[in-house]
Amino acid sequence: MNGQSHTLELDNRTTLLDTLREHLHLTGTKKGCDHGQCGACTVLVNGERINSCLTLALLTHNQKVTTIEGLGTPTRMHPMQTAFVKHDGYQCGYCTPGRVFRRRHARRDPARRPEPCHRRPHGQAAALGRRTARAHERQHLPLRRLLQHRRCDRRSGRGADMKPFTYERASTPAEAAAAVARNPEAKFIAGGTNLLDLMKLQIEAPAHLVDVNALALDKIEATPEGGLRIGAMVRNTALAADDRVRRDYAVLSRALLAGASGQLRNRATTAGNLLQRTRCPYFYDTDQPCNKRRPGSGCSAIGGFSRQLAIVGSSQACIATHPSDMAVAMRVLDAGVETVRPDGARRVIPIADFHRLPGDTPHIDTNLQRDELITAVTLPRPAGGMHVYRKVRDRASYAFALVSVAAIVQRDGTGRVALGGVAHKPWRDAAADAALPQGAKAATARLLADARPTDHNAFKVPPVERTLAAALAQARS
Ligand SMILES: Cc1cc2nc3c(=O)[nH]c(=O)nc-3n(C[C@H](O)[C@H](O)[C@H](O)COP(=O)(O)OP(=O)(O)OC[C@H]3O[C@@H](n4cnc5c(N)ncnc54)[C@H](O)[C@@H]3O)c2cc1C
Ligand code: SF4
Ligand code: FES
Repeated sequence: MNGQSHTLELDNRTTLLDTLREHLHLTGTKKGCDHGQCGACTVLVNGERINSCLTLALLTHNQKVTTIEGLGTPTRMHPMQTAFVKHDGYQCGYCTPGRVFRRRHARRDPARRPEPCHRRPHGQAAALGRRTARAHERQHLPLRRLLQHRRCDRRSGRGADMKPFTYERASTPAEAAAAVARNPEAKFIAGGTNLLDLMKLQIEAPAHLVDVNALALDKIEATPEGGLRIGAMVRNTALAADDRVRRDYAVLSRALLAGASGQLRNRATTAGNLLQRTRCPYFYDTDQPCNKRRPGSGCSAIGGFSRQLAIVGSSQACIATHPSDMAVAMRVLDAGVETVRPDGARRVIPIADFHRLPGDTPHIDTNLQRDELITAVTLPRPAGGMHVYRKVRDRASYAFALVSVAAIVQRDGTGRVALGGVAHKPWRDAAADAALPQGAKAATARLLADARPTDHNAFKVPPVERTLAAALAQARS
């Protein structure tokens, strides 16, 4: 910690943020939202900026942590701190330490060089400029997440909102799968950016966590077939920055960069991203019925507030969408998900069959068995063509897709397209691919042939065609 070693005995639910503030009294790092949304808790772990609120302290065991106190002192400030003072960058000062780290590392983030052209500001966005876009960063939180409405004392520094769990660190994939098989209430934990968020709200309450961070699954390798094999633990930042991905699978790099924040991408893993759970507001609100969270309890979104939710492929039991951007790119790339079972049995699940439609079992998101560990994602030989990812969202800074389009378009106009933000899984249709040369209208007609939007989300239908048209125009240009 800031160049010093500390041996601490902590409740294993303690986040890195609470460890810093409550146990080491390093209060420069701030607790804002406590759910990965504001960046006030940003610190460096092994030189990478991350959200300390969504990281268990035990996941940073033996790693180098740098907080704002370790960056500079009032008399010997880091140049970025000096710049904040000189240019009056403090605002109220609360999240300033997080912003200093964000600024310091944003320019060094390899994933951001150079900006994919579709993300450069243009038209009205350019006229508004960065400052205006950042003004929309605020995201509403349910009232019960405010201090006076919380069930537990968030300042206890013991992860008091989480149910107690036991913990083990696996050293081989089969051992990890076996550990989950042994305990019916066990779960794997990778980056933890989704699982911990849900554990804090008691939406997930595993009694045992099997840490897969020590498995040697963090490589991106060429396959004999001419494709790529991406280890399950490859972080989203590393995947987006990989030169082979940027060159041959640019749609994947662009989708990753359109998702989450730099801090989250530094922790989030390939497997964890595929398995992140829906962002349906009722799924997050434990006071409301939700078939996905509590099977058979009902769906509050049907007849409720469904603005963000599915327009196609939904059921009478659930109209949630899958939130991943990466998965949409994987779908258009025809990826395969490699897995291992406790007995060592391996299989590859085509990405088309990996995520499920809700049907009457919306609590089951994928066709993965509970004790089946993802070891890698494989990409076939590069498909060539122009790769485009476009994401329509409520604000320019990180937000989940209302509609997204991943497209690979060849010179002759043929290609493939997948949609995000509209269904329970990345949405692709062979007939839409076949119709692509006829243009966005024809392809959209196939993609949304069975669409059943609600009154709240019917507005999503026109942007599908418009976004696809823009993607096709971008590919042609
Ligand atoms: C504020 C915020 C904004 C976000 N915005 C976006 C966005 O715009 N777009 C987007 O795509 N995502 C977004 N995300 C989600 C983020 O990308 C995910 O939280 C992240 O990818 C999850 O990866 P992880 O490694 O942290 O998974 P974890 O939280 O560790 O795990 C997630 C799930 O995967 C399981 N799991 C993990 N590894 C394995 C494995 N090898 N085999 C089997 N099961 C495994 C875990 O048991 C758990 O159920 C956002 C998140 C936050 C908090
Ligand atoms: S749409 Fe799905 S996740 Fe949302 S409340 Fe209904 S059942 Fe739950
Ligand atoms: S406290 Fe807001 S991102 Fe961690």
